[in-house]
Amino acid sequence: MEKKRIATLSFNDGTPQIELPIMSGTLGPDVIDIRNLAKTGMFTYDPGFLSTASCSSSITYIDGDAGHLYYRGYPIEQLAEKSSYLEVCYLLLNGELPSEADSEKFEREIKRRTMVHDQLMSFYKGFRRDAHPMAVMVGVVGALSAFYHDSLDISNPEHREVSALRLIAKVPTIAAMCYKYNIGHPFMYPNNKLGYVENFLYMMFATPCEEYAANPRIVKALERIFILHADHEQNASTSTVRLAGSSGANPFACTSAGIAALWGPAHGGANEAVLKMLDEIGDVSQIPKFVARAKDKKDSFRLMGFGHRVYKNMDPRARVMRETCYEVLAELGLQNDKLFEMAMELERVALQDEYFIERKLYPNVDFYSGIVLKALNVPLNMFTVIFAIARTIGWISQWNEMISDTERKIGRPRQLYRGPVKRDYRPSRERE
Ligand code: SDX
Repeated sequence: MEKKRIATLSFNDGTPQIELPIMSGTLGPDVIDIRNLAKTGMFTYDPGFLSTASCSSSITYIDGDAGHLYYRGYPIEQLAEKSSYLEVCYLLLNGELPSEADSEKFEREIKRRTMVHDQLMSFYKGFRRDAHPMAVMVGVVGALSAFYHDSLDISNPEHREVSALRLIAKVPTIAAMCYKYNIGHPFMYPNNKLGYVENFLYMMFATPCEEYAANPRIVKALERIFILHADHEQNASTSTVRLAGSSGANPFACTSAGIAALWGPAHGGANEAVLKMLDEIGDVSQIPKFVARAKDKKDSFRLMGFGHRVYKNMDPRARVMRETCYEVLAELGLQNDKLFEMAMELERVALQDEYFIERKLYPNVDFYSGIVLKALNVPLNMFTVIFAIARTIGWISQWNEMISDTERKIGRPRQLYRGPVKRDYRPSRERE
């Protein structure tokens, strides 16, 4: 019988030592179960949760040192090459790859939900035309809660399933509507004769007055981008969805919270920030100056698209994205794309620089995705929206796993208080 591992916490001031069980997962580092710590009246302190596991999960696994990423055990490289985004959605949500019959049923269930309630369209009119599409996404996705009172009982597995299907089906429609509203074009209704990714491109780029057919190579590239961005353990936006969901909030409101968290340039907003950074650098000759700025502690400038909390090796998604870059640029005759050349040179310089090597700062998925999206004619302000479409399945799968967890508790971190000690109120005439 394997001996249970225990961590013993002892104190140098005579406080009685306590034993903390060590737990092991199927892969990855062991964790110290600190729930017993409450007996000492003390808490742990870990801003940014660098050393804290917030939950147990069976969905995605990252080996940051080796640069591995598995969705339900399947390596991301294999899924990116061989699978489809809807098949990955089924896998993340249900835990297994679908049979052919399951796939057909799942696709039918998604297709019949791609339209949004016609009244939802009026929400867009409340936004300025030049509103950032992520601002509109936060508002309109959250507003879905106002249309589905028939299925918001989160304790009901059927309600959870139909909410997941609705989000997978409707987020691309809502996203494309954000773009159409932004440019003053009429909304395009979904065309269910098309595949999931093809339908999104149709709703984005088709107009009522002309035939539109997406380039199959571009559909394939976007499908790969969706697969690569589908889930990623307990990142900031997924943790936001879990925390919102832990209070019992409905899945549409939780997804809206996830979209808000993803928007930040340190997270999903990085792909847009990478393009702005490359634009600011302007020319390969300026790269050394900007790399120096990224290393200068007095300068807030950071190399966007570099570094990652977990990956201390190349992000496996960045490798696939770099290959996709080559393929898409070759397909579109943009081999000498200046931005791509600059990105390659920036990667080469940074990966040779002691500052980046010492801190294990490698290009992450956002470093190349922006260049591919720009080559696909996706407007800059829609880059993070694309990320949000892809990540919706990750958010809703993680939310569903949490809600189904019998050990679920409302998330409520503690704090180290550093404010004033107790003091009495004094009338204003007595104050200095
Ligand atoms: C995503 O979590 C996920 O899984 C996210 C994501 C997902 O799929 O959900 O993978 C998607 O968000 C990818 C990351 C996209 N963000 C960026 O590309 C923005 C640029 N990167 C950094 O802001 C940063 O690397 C983070 C936010 C990604 C990670 O920050 P950490 O883990 O909190 O690390 P840190 O800020 O403490 O940095 C450690 C050191 C510091 O230097 P020292 O204080 O040790 O001297 O590395 C330096 C930092 O200054 N550093 C950088 C840098 N990133 C870290 N220096 C220059 N340029 C950078 N990009």
